Amino acid sequence: MRAILAISCLALLASASAAGSQDPAPVDVRHAMQAEVNPAIVAIWDVTNEALDDNGNISPALIADAGWTQIADNAARLAESTERMAAADRFIAASPGNWATEDYEVSMDVVQASLDAQPAAYRAFAAAFAAKARELETVARARDAARLAEIMPEMDGACAGCHSAFWYPEA
Ligand code: HEC
Repeated sequence: MRAILAISCLALLASASAAGSQDPAPVDVRHAMQAEVNPAIVAIWDVTNEALDDNGNISPALIADAGWTQIADNAARLAESTERMAAADRFIAASPGNWATEDYEVSMDVVQASLDAQPAAYRAFAAAFAAKARELETVARARDAARLAEIMPEMDGACAGCHSAFWYPEA
């Protein structure tokens, strides 16, 4: 009896791992935005907003060593999160417990329908954003202030491009 139980448990384990390799967990987009992407960009903005000169331009003199590291490390976090998205088979707009939205917000049902309709386009937005984030990481490690000033608006554009396609059409 014990042997039979052990064998059937092994069979269960085997089928679970086979299912795991064919059908990896989907990326939870809302969780990634709330827990990974948004905190990382806010940490970057914390540095760049403090480094604006009187004309509103980023001044390298106003970024300390720790600030460059904060930009680079958080750019790497942005890249890792969106590289995972770019490589994912499936997406969920949000987890069941995090599905609710306010009346004035785009519902997760609508986001899910867009993700299901155009997963390849979503992956392409994620890959483009990840490439931009990797570039930001390189720029920050090189302390290239001139390129930093150019790339920050490009990052904002890469957020907005995906959002207007998959979240707020009017954005
Ligand atoms: C590859 C696509 C994509 C990129 C790139 C992207 N987002 Fe998102 N984001 C989404 C989608 C889809 C939603 C809607 C689902 C949701 O509400 O979370 C969303 C929602 C959000 C939300 C709302 C989360 C909530 O509470 O519901 C925030 C905040 C956000 N994104 C921030 C950002 C920022 C900042 C960037 C750029 C640094 C960015 N996103 C880049 C796809 C993207």
